Amino acid sequence: MRTDLNRSETMTSKGVRRLTHTHRRLSALLLATASSLIFLSSTNAQPQFPLPSSFVNPLIGSTGPEPNLSGGTIPSVSPPFGSCRWVVQNQQNWVSQTPFNYSDNYQVHGFIGTRQPAIWMGESAWVGVVPGSGDKIKTGWDERGMNRVNGSEEFGVGFYGVELEQEKGKVKVEMSATSRVGHFRFTFTGTEQPYIFVPVTRRSALFHDGDIFDHSYFPTGTVELTEPGKGGGSLQVCGSNDEMQDQVLVPTSIAENASNFKGFFCAQFSVHSSYGITLGNTTKERVVSGSGRELGAFIRFNAASKASTVVDVRIGTSLISTDQARKNIDNEIPESDKVEATRKKTEAKWAEKLGRFEIDTDDEEGKTVFLTGIVRAMQFPYEVHDPSPTGASQYYSGYDNAVHEGDSYSGYSIWDTYRAAWPLQLLFAPERIPGLIRSMLHDYQEGGWLPMWKNIVETKTMVSTHADSLLSEGIRKGFMSAFTDEDLKIMWQAVWKDASVPPANDGSTVYSDRQEGVDFEVRAGLTTYLNESMGWVADDVHSESVSRTLDYAYDDHVLSILSSLLPVQITSIVNNTNVTEFLNARARRNIWTVWNDNATAKGEGNGKGYVQARFLNGSFNSDITSGFTEGTREVYSFSQGFVWGDLIHDLIERRGGVSRFVDSLDEFFDGGEVDFTNEPSHHTPYLYALASPDHARSTQKRVRELAKANFNNAPEGLSGNEDCGQTSSWYIFSAMGFYPVDPASGEYVFDQDPHGTYNSTTDSYVLQILAEGAENKWFVDDVRVNGVSKRDTWRVKHEDIVWGGVIEFDMTD
Ligand SMILES: *[C@@H]1O[C@H](CO)[C@@H](O)[C@H](O)[C@H]1NC(C)=O
Ligand SMILES: *[C@@H]1O[C@H](CO)[C@@H](O)[C@H](O)[C@H]1NC(C)=O
Ligand SMILES: *[C@@H]1O[C@H](CO)[C@@H](O)[C@H](O)[C@H]1NC(C)=O
Ligand SMILES: *[C@@H]1O[C@H](CO)[C@@H](O)[C@H](O)[C@H]1NC(C)=O
Ligand SMILES: *[C@@H]1O[C@H](CO)[C@@H](O)[C@H](O)[C@H]1NC(C)=O
Ligand SMILES: *[C@@H]1O[C@H](CO)[C@@H](O)[C@H](O)[C@H]1NC(C)=O
Ligand SMILES: *[C@@H]1O[C@H](CO)[C@@H](O)[C@H](O)[C@H]1NC(C)=O
Ligand SMILES: *[C@@H]1O[C@H](CO)[C@@H](O)[C@H](O)[C@H]1NC(C)=O
Ligand SMILES: *[C@@H]1O[C@H](CO)[C@@H](O)[C@H](O)[C@H]1NC(C)=O
Ligand SMILES: *[C@@H]1O[C@H](CO)[C@@H](O)[C@H](O)[C@H]1NC(C)=O
Ligand SMILES: *[C@@H]1O[C@H](CO)[C@@H](O)[C@H](O)[C@H]1NC(C)=O
Repeated sequence: MRTDLNRSETMTSKGVRRLTHTHRRLSALLLATASSLIFLSSTNAQPQFPLPSSFVNPLIGSTGPEPNLSGGTIPSVSPPFGSCRWVVQNQQNWVSQTPFNYSDNYQVHGFIGTRQPAIWMGESAWVGVVPGSGDKIKTGWDERGMNRVNGSEEFGVGFYGVELEQEKGKVKVEMSATSRVGHFRFTFTGTEQPYIFVPVTRRSALFHDGDIFDHSYFPTGTVELTEPGKGGGSLQVCGSNDEMQDQVLVPTSIAENASNFKGFFCAQFSVHSSYGITLGNTTKERVVSGSGRELGAFIRFNAASKASTVVDVRIGTSLISTDQARKNIDNEIPESDKVEATRKKTEAKWAEKLGRFEIDTDDEEGKTVFLTGIVRAMQFPYEVHDPSPTGASQYYSGYDNAVHEGDSYSGYSIWDTYRAAWPLQLLFAPERIPGLIRSMLHDYQEGGWLPMWKNIVETKTMVSTHADSLLSEGIRKGFMSAFTDEDLKIMWQAVWKDASVPPANDGSTVYSDRQEGVDFEVRAGLTTYLNESMGWVADDVHSESVSRTLDYAYDDHVLSILSSLLPVQITSIVNNTNVTEFLNARARRNIWTVWNDNATAKGEGNGKGYVQARFLNGSFNSDITSGFTEGTREVYSFSQGFVWGDLIHDLIERRGGVSRFVDSLDEFFDGGEVDFTNEPSHHTPYLYALASPDHARSTQKRVRELAKANFNNAPEGLSGNEDCGQTSSWYIFSAMGFYPVDPASGEYVFDQDPHGTYNSTTDSYVLQILAEGAENKWFVDDVRVNGVSKRDTWRVKHEDIVWGGVIEFDMTD
């Protein structure tokens, strides 16, 4: 780590960036403590606040009528950014189905440590544990189902508890977890022949092109049981499992290396009487090892007459080895720790995050949605590294099938999270940012490209190379000092490759969503985008061509920012061209290549000028629905690629001036084109305020309406997928009163004169957000940041709030 204030000042002095946040005030009277950007949150910081767990509802977003209309969240137990998340399981999980879907009346089929990061992504390296009783070990999914004792269930971020009925008696389950280790206490009461089944491999499902499920995928694995040594200790059940449901999406050049991927586990049982393995529904008593499909292990306990049998189980996980999984147990949950101690440890980690917010409001529902959202925004990407023998970290990489030194994370839903989740983490999880960035650089070094959607390895899901945005914003917001010149060189090489090297067979491969058997997708269609007599992705060659063109232009814009911040000797390598100007000009030019001035609104609308797909030969595709991903031409005509710097004024002019532009926004919202089940709409309500301060009220109204319509304190409380924290992050920023419409912009200064109060106990700066009466008053007359009115622009710079201070909203009805 390095601090180089002089260099930073030099760089900002030539910067022209502005506009990070538009002001909006939504629901609560908030008092938030934003931690500083320079990693002041030291690792030994103790949580200072009681965990406001009564204001976290882990069930929010855990059901919906169908996968697209569900948050796809699960009420999991794990610390922030935890490697494995443990959850009560009521359904098998695969792409489109998570391990838990809330309903009033469900049976419990076991407990799973999951690495499925989102409802539309696959599981990998799961671990499971299922209590039961009777002579026969119930290995089948249906026969494992157990009724819950009414009223016995407790959901929390660091604990889950339930009592499950058995044929005779019942079993009480108490579950907690650290990042790499699940911790259970099973208390069997009045049961006959109690046991615990450890499923190792299962029949799984692959999600192929064209939504075809093939249910005959059988991952394989191994298991081995070891008696405690003479000195006592635990019975150990260790093994591995090669399940990776998204294996069909792995880019071809790394597919062979990634095919070696395995998840490892090691479970330690405090007591046992006998044990064995299972294959399918065959039980093999006293057999101590096995391998193959539908494999499992079981451990029986002597039910000592009528007394309860209490079993403590700790299950370590690792992507490196069973040995490492065992070490992770020793590291995270010593044998003497009871489940209560683990719960306390994990809740303390959440308290450190949640305790940064002190919210004073009568709106209890809003407060619960807000704090639950913080939990959701601090789960991904998740840690895949383990401690190394030297005390640093090490991780398994599926890109090159090797173990490396350093940090690594998985679960990068970047097309979603670049919008608000990453900006939120930059503010409230700054201690993670250097590792999260390094992880992306490792992916580049080991696999050749930065991640797009990393689920263990790249899956080529969604479009464009928005890691460019994450890196640019991270550097823009003060994290350059965490990196050496060598790191920064690698960073620039990686993003420049995104911006200049098309994927393999670019002219002939469609790179459709989840296309199988192709290499890294990156900026598919870059060849024609780079061609100076074209500049767009051709709709007759590539899928999602308009979305791609707009997103590539956005990424050019953010890289222009990055290039202006990195040391000049690193970026000035491109043909003696000024790369900052080059990328800025390319973004401004190419984005208009898919704009058709003559296109008109559907039906009676007066909207004029829309984005539209273009063919290789230059003509527009008359099918106005072609070329988009997770959105329509209406929403993409307000793309984030258009709304940075003064480019938004060009967009406004194309639509015929401010008044017609605002009319077209009204048409968009009132005509039901806004769609909060997907991300491309997220920034759109803020465009009124950007268009003109005179229209800020419309932003205020739309944001409030969208928040109320799409976020509720209920299991069906999210109208669209959470997408690794992006959806909740929209709510959190909106509730605080501002939103990162153009995340990587905004001038960062190493401000030596912070406005806010530094609190050495919490190692953070205090940002107060005051909005009296906001529960009932929707509109804002004025907003002052540290006393300075922002009513003329409705914008605030990152550095004006990151050091704390006061934002005061004057609310009105
Ligand atoms: C969840 O379960 C309910 C009730 O069984 C069902 O109607 C719904 O479709 C399921 N939702 C998802 C997202 O699977
Ligand atoms: C769900 O969304 C996906 C991705 O946008 C889409 O392909 C699929 O058709 C949708 N499914 C339903 C049932 O609407
Ligand atoms: C047990 O195995 C038999 C024979 O393969 C099969 O028909 C049955 O469905 C299995 N039962 C369970 C519960 O898996
Ligand atoms: C479960 O308990 C709740 C109240 O705790 C009650 O309303 C409900 O009827 C009970 N359900 C059953 C099946 O006993
Ligand atoms: C596979 O991994 C090995 C190192 O483990 C590496 O040398 C090789 O380049 C990798 N293959 C590809 C295609 O990346
Ligand atoms: C660029 O596009 C023009 C117009 O389609 C085409 O004639 C030319 O061959 C392209 N150049 C390259 C290098 O592909
Ligand atoms: C740099 O020069 C090379 C070789 O002439 C050319 O292929 C490349 O497109 C140029 N890059 C830029 C950014 O102009
Ligand atoms: C590149 O252009 C930008 C914007 O015009 C300017 O600020 C910067 O100093 C230039 N960089 C170099 C290395 O000349
Ligand atoms: C729009 O219409 C005008 C008048 O018919 C025509 O000159 C122009 O080329 C058209 N522009 C596009 C992009 O089709
Ligand atoms: C351009 O290409 C499209 C798609 O191949 C074709 O339908 C259209 O007729 C072509 N237009 C011209 C002017 O050649
Ligand atoms: C600093 O934080 C601690 C812990 O929350 C709190 O008790 C104390 O009042 C704070 N001090 C100031 C000056 O705000």
